[in-house]
Amino acid sequence: MEKTQPIGVFDSGVGGLTVVKSLWEHFPQEQIVYFGDTAHLPYGSHSPEQIIHFGLEIVEFLLDHTVKAVIAACNTSSSVSLSHLQEKSPVPVIGMVEPGVQAALRKTKNKRIGVLATKPTVESGAYERVFRLSDPDVQVFTQSCPLFVPLVENGRTGRRETYQIARSYLQPLQEAEVDTLVFGCTHYPFLAPVIKHIIGEGIQLVDPAKEVVSELAGILKLDGHRGETPKHLFYASGSITSFYTTGKEFLGSFPFKVQQVSLNSQVKGAPIGNRDIENEGLLHPEN
Ligand code: DGL
Repeated sequence: MEKTQPIGVFDSGVGGLTVVKSLWEHFPQEQIVYFGDTAHLPYGSHSPEQIIHFGLEIVEFLLDHTVKAVIAACNTSSSVSLSHLQEKSPVPVIGMVEPGVQAALRKTKNKRIGVLATKPTVESGAYERVFRLSDPDVQVFTQSCPLFVPLVENGRTGRRETYQIARSYLQPLQEAEVDTLVFGCTHYPFLAPVIKHIIGEGIQLVDPAKEVVSELAGILKLDGHRGETPKHLFYASGSITSFYTTGKEFLGSFPFKVQQVSLNSQVKGAPIGNRDIENEGLLHPEN
């Protein structure tokens, strides 16, 4: 493995950018190749078989870009397909569940932990399984939040209806008196201000994006080598305009350009960056 090989990251859409941001903050010298499977968004509405199929194709695409490791920056894919992806990949494939669980166990005092996730993640039972293996005394309360991903992808995080929806998802977990709450979907940290506003100070939030980067650093022995400033590559399989607009706002000064691509590696057009989107008048979508 060469130090200069890129790190592959994938998700159904912008959610995995929470991992990109953390990777970039801690290891800015590492080149990232990102795949947002916006053609199949949201993964929450697909069957486990379909999600496994998408994941295998994406890992193959990333391997064609000579990645030295892959982060499945998608809890849904991590929950239902991680072992399938690991089996097929010659490089390490790291998922979101284990890092999130370990971080939550370090934080909880009353051993009552909530997990917000997509329906396939909840139905897979992955979080319960990994929690039980690490600490059989812990009580896990999962809540599926099917409307969160479309709200995030469409940049509707601050709307009044978003608060109402979030309240209804959070109420059962508040009633269960959890003291720790895991973002069990990489899209949900985009809603952190809304969620914090509703739950207040008493419940601690866990964002597995930070944890997965430390796990990766340990596996690859990332050491902050000095090299040329990396040229990151971002691909999306479906729409790139809302992916770009929401992603750009989230990533701030990160050098961000997105290219549309199909899973058989056919690039569909020139990459879009700031200027192109401004020309299309899409940088300021109506609120
Ligand atoms: N961000 C993904 C996750 O962590 C997928 C969400 C979706 O597309 O439904 O689960």
